[in-house]
Amino acid sequence: MRSAQWFGRDDLAGFLHRSSLAGTGLGRHALDGRPVIGICNSWSDLVSCNFHLKGLADAVRRGVAQAGGVAVEFTTMSLGEALMKPTAMMYRNLVAMEVEESIRAYPLDAVVLLGGCDKTVPAQLMGAAGADVPAIALTGGPANPAVFRGRELGVGTDLWAYVDELRAGRMSQSDFAELEAASGPSVGHCPELGTASTMAALTEALGMALPGSATVPATHSRRYALGEATGERAVDLARSGLRPSRILTPAAFDNAITALMALGGSTNAVIHLLAIARKAGVELALDRFDQISARTPLIANLRPSGEELFARLNTVGGIPAVLHRLEPLLDTDTLTVTGKPLRESIRPAAVEDVVLSTLDSPFAPSGGIAVVKGNLAPDGALIKTSAATPALLRHRGPALVFDDHHELSHRIDDPDLDVTADTVLVLRNIGPVGGPGMPEWGALPLPEKLLRQGVTDMVRISDARMSGTCFGTMAVHVAPEAAVGGPLGKLRTGDPVVLDVRQRTLAVDLPDSEFLSRPSFTPPRTPPKGYRKLVNDHILQADKGCDFDFMADGGPAPDLAPGSIPAGWHGGW
Ligand code: FES
Repeated sequence: MRSAQWFGRDDLAGFLHRSSLAGTGLGRHALDGRPVIGICNSWSDLVSCNFHLKGLADAVRRGVAQAGGVAVEFTTMSLGEALMKPTAMMYRNLVAMEVEESIRAYPLDAVVLLGGCDKTVPAQLMGAAGADVPAIALTGGPANPAVFRGRELGVGTDLWAYVDELRAGRMSQSDFAELEAASGPSVGHCPELGTASTMAALTEALGMALPGSATVPATHSRRYALGEATGERAVDLARSGLRPSRILTPAAFDNAITALMALGGSTNAVIHLLAIARKAGVELALDRFDQISARTPLIANLRPSGEELFARLNTVGGIPAVLHRLEPLLDTDTLTVTGKPLRESIRPAAVEDVVLSTLDSPFAPSGGIAVVKGNLAPDGALIKTSAATPALLRHRGPALVFDDHHELSHRIDDPDLDVTADTVLVLRNIGPVGGPGMPEWGALPLPEKLLRQGVTDMVRISDARMSGTCFGTMAVHVAPEAAVGGPLGKLRTGDPVVLDVRQRTLAVDLPDSEFLSRPSFTPPRTPPKGYRKLVNDHILQADKGCDFDFMADGGPAPDLAPGSIPAGWHGGW
């Protein structure tokens, strides 16, 4: 095992390595060849979605010890969606690098990845794929829903609806204050099918987490039993040497994409799967998502595409039941962290329930996300069709262009704004470079005067992302983004824009000779420094997963083993 190269040697290096942990109470007898299991924990006081992972790590420790391993916990930066500015997404790659290098640098035989909030899970999977040391993920579980006037709420989905009610004058400020008082009843990630729930589900579909683990609520005792089981399994993984590179195969990504489309999951998952695949050395392109979406019916009834919350899936058997319904569309020979093929992880639904349908009787004939392209998005854009207004999926209207979110904030509620329900709202310069970090500002607010007229949705286009909790007709992730010269920067207010999801088109109806010869507009920006300069100079576009261009492309980087120390050489090795 890897750890033996640090601890199992009779030289000065072995002395130093063993004695460096003696201060933590780990005696030489504990480092006698037992598997050393790292618990990579994104616990933080600043992230309620991940707050309970501190306690969950104790359950993992018990599991590791029960299986004869030694658990060592290390923390990483925790990415909280609501508090981090400009966006947690800007730091996903930073955490991915931190996780990858921590795993590679330390004497770990296997790793348990504890994450919950949207970006922590993909960051950890990216890091684990890059390091390619045996790894198993345990996500934090959905939070208990807030209850407001008898309705169980998702954190974002229902809030966005109430915000529109407030702006339309149909909800009072005191009602809104009552809503805030009801919010945040427990730890755990957003309880609807936002990005966190989506990534938890896809982690299982990829084969990187124990079957049935994604949907168990954060506060449920079963989650702590899962912690023990995950710790035990990590020891087995260390002993068997089953690495992520054997699990994260092209077929595993196809399975995850199938689950994404069947569930009606977050558009953010597309970026994350592209990035994880890149780390794993799997060739994956945006078009693959569209191909799989076209053949995959929508079979889940989960907010924001449907009605129910994520934990409702738990009552019918969780992701194993979803995968069982999808079995004809999956490759169930793929290996999972159980050491067995996916086929042995799937199970029929325990009961029939409104949350889950069948391939023969789906909620929609094709999957929840479509890829559209055209002269506005040559490298593609995404539209979450399952959460859009069907009548707007084929639409032509004049553009109303906002150059950045400051301009939008100042103008959107101007009573004199020249806008109708047919207008196509456009926000640009909010992409991976322009944002920076591609904030979730793609769900542009509807103009207040239209809300008051009863308008509930409009076509919106941006190079930003949108929250997985959002609903509406929005083409997001436009690539290339305006800030790097993408054609979205050439669009002008009044230009005729055509969205046709059936034809997979997002275009401006102008001759290319006229449109493409225009200059592209980007507002002046202060030159970035530090980490933001790294983002500015090296982040890839959305259709490539927004990883850094210098990170591993073509598979994991080689492992490093400690060398011996020449006798008499002083220092740290
Ligand atoms: Fe953390 Fe939604 S804010 S999961």
